[in-house]
Amino acid sequence: PQDWWTATQMALAELRQAHPVEYAGVRAIGLSGQMHGAVLLDAQDRVLRPAILWNDTRASEECVQMMAELPELAQLAGSLAMPGFTAPKLRWVARHEPEVFKQLAKVLLPKDYVRLMLTGDYVTDMSDASGTLWLDVQKRAWSDKLLALTGLTQAHMPRLVEGSQAGGILSHRVAEQLGLSNGVVVAGGAGDNAASAVGMGATQAGQGFLSLGTSGVLFVVTPSYQPNAASATHAFCHAMPGQWHQMSVMLSAASALQWVTHLLGAPSEGVLATQAAALTLAERAASPLFLPYLAGERTPHNDARVRGSFHSLNFETQATHLGYSVIEGVTFGLADGLAALKAAGSAVQRLSLVGGGSRSAMWAQQLSSALDIEIVTHASSTVGGALGAARLGWLATGETPQTVCLAPAVEAIYTPNPVEQDMLMPRYAQFRSLYTHAAP
Ligand code: XUL
Repeated sequence: PQDWWTATQMALAELRQAHPVEYAGVRAIGLSGQMHGAVLLDAQDRVLRPAILWNDTRASEECVQMMAELPELAQLAGSLAMPGFTAPKLRWVARHEPEVFKQLAKVLLPKDYVRLMLTGDYVTDMSDASGTLWLDVQKRAWSDKLLALTGLTQAHMPRLVEGSQAGGILSHRVAEQLGLSNGVVVAGGAGDNAASAVGMGATQAGQGFLSLGTSGVLFVVTPSYQPNAASATHAFCHAMPGQWHQMSVMLSAASALQWVTHLLGAPSEGVLATQAAALTLAERAASPLFLPYLAGERTPHNDARVRGSFHSLNFETQATHLGYSVIEGVTFGLADGLAALKAAGSAVQRLSLVGGGSRSAMWAQQLSSALDIEIVTHASSTVGGALGAARLGWLATGETPQTVCLAPAVEAIYTPNPVEQDMLMPRYAQFRSLYTHAAP
């Protein structure tokens, strides 16, 4: 957690130097961050151990126990107990690191540790709080029953605010240190996914996005709280009051492309993706299949132990084919995610593409064909989460969503290509059957 604060200070110093006039005019700060991570603090706000992150799967046994002890867990929390979530991690700490657990005074999410440094307050927002498994997601309040499963109480939790609400004011000391004016509002902010939705203007039921970041996410705004745990999707609060969303999450998306890029010694993900894009449909059809479960999988399998693999390697297989396979394997994982969301009742016709992977036109086209929906990219697609956080900051100063939450200008629209679909569909069927062999 201290690294995040150090990095924040460095980034702000760069901003201050590069844009002195705008920096001096800052009135509000919005926060966005990776979700689910456990930041453990003692009574003096000292960090007790390195944070355990969202893609850490050590707590899978704890999940089984929690579900057995409280069968209504999924209905209350909007999701099955999954090891990436915060609560199972705390149960793991209680069992494996009792000395740490004994000193525990507060549990914060990653972005809320940065907030603590900025304002001195323990606060979180509803969207990020939804990823803890301690929130009664329908009531938008901490649940004593869920907290009790990890031996915690509301005293261990930060105060809850809506993402677009003010969550505190920058402290005088920090304002001076950072060269910001006094009275800067720090908004509730959001988990990275809800923040991306706000950035893309997805604030009305049925609107959503697809994120090709470290994780791969499909996110759809719902008119009410609509949990469907059996589909291994999540039903969480949105960052705006009175709104919820459903989400499917795969653990390794653009991170899988990054992995294979390093493995192959390719110059960059972008170069490898461009080379893969140059393959003909016939060459793609002859490429190996890839299962993207490098760190286990959440939606749709909720399987912490499954791992990735390449299938049908042969003497003709070249580095570019492997690059293609990884991109396609992630696409198929997202097609599984969309099927899960449909099973959970979400209907989508069009999704905005966000995250680093949105730079690849070939990937955007393939997603449109494989998911059979329209994919749209925007000028600010690669910075969706940061833009959303800034918008939440603006809303916290009293501005209205009608002014703030507009969809950014469309850059490109991708529609399903029937010829590509004919190539992809049999491969997708094979991809699906391979999971049954890969599952431990
Ligand atoms: C969402 C999730 C990831 C992280 C990535 O449930 O686990 O998208 O938020 O930062």
